[in-house]
Amino acid sequence: MGEQLDNISPITEHTTLLEAKNLSHEFDYKLFENINFKVKTQESISIIGMSGSGKSTLLNILSSLLKPKSGEIIYNNKDLYELKKKELLNIRREDFGIIFQAHYLFRGFSASDNLKIATLLSQEEVDNELLKKLNIEFVLNQGVGELSGGQQQRLSIARVLTKKPKIIFADEPTGNLDKDTAQIVMDTLFDYIKKNDAALILVTHETDLANQCNKVYKLENLQLKELK
Ligand SMILES: Nc1ncnc2c1ncn2[C@@H]1O[C@H](COP(=O)(O)OP(=O)(O)OP(=O)(O)O)[C@@H](O)[C@H]1O
Ligand SMILES: [Mg+2]
Repeated sequence: MGEQLDNISPITEHTTLLEAKNLSHEFDYKLFENINFKVKTQESISIIGMSGSGKSTLLNILSSLLKPKSGEIIYNNKDLYELKKKELLNIRREDFGIIFQAHYLFRGFSASDNLKIATLLSQEEVDNELLKKLNIEFVLNQGVGELSGGQQQRLSIARVLTKKPKIIFADEPTGNLDKDTAQIVMDTLFDYIKKNDAALILVTHETDLANQCNKVYKLENLQLKELK
């Protein structure tokens, strides 16, 4: 039946997953003002900009972690920051996959325990193909403290994908990696969003990786400029 449906009605329209409306934020100085932006299913978007321009702050706002000074983040037709705490927490847990600039693994646990925690949340299996692709299938029994920086980073990415999120928010996910391994990680993320009808919002300093996304934005002079 699945096959028939695919034949009859291929889904060509990608639906909007997340929309930012008139976002403004500041700490000691203004970071951005009246930013508008949308991300659709199967779409990858990168955000570049100078250090301190507010990229991580913007990603925190988009990913439910930080309430903006003004503006809305619409997800499932509702403003994230108008939701009850519990509803917001459920979305963050179940639908959003957040890859931080500094990764947070449970130290003192093995690599495979860290993955099992994600499977408990999603009730999905650990995807062995994914672990092979990321070249970490042979470190599963090691403690997190025994992994190299790049292995920890790939493990934290595998853990996020194991949750099967609808939107991946990734802040410099390839920061510690050599060029070839960085490309493997990017291909894994692109592959994931295609197969799962998900979306990727990526913050990076590496322009050649940014350019592989469907859209490229630069955060500059308080605005998000569309470069591609
Ligand atoms: N929680 C906070 N409280 C006060 N100021 C903050 C906070 N978070 C960020 N800032 C400030 O906001 C500015 C933007 O920080 P942000 O981390 O968003 O920059 P970025 O573009 O991600 O930089 P980088 O490329 O270095 O990661 C910086 O001046 C930073 O000091
Ligand atoms: Mg940052």
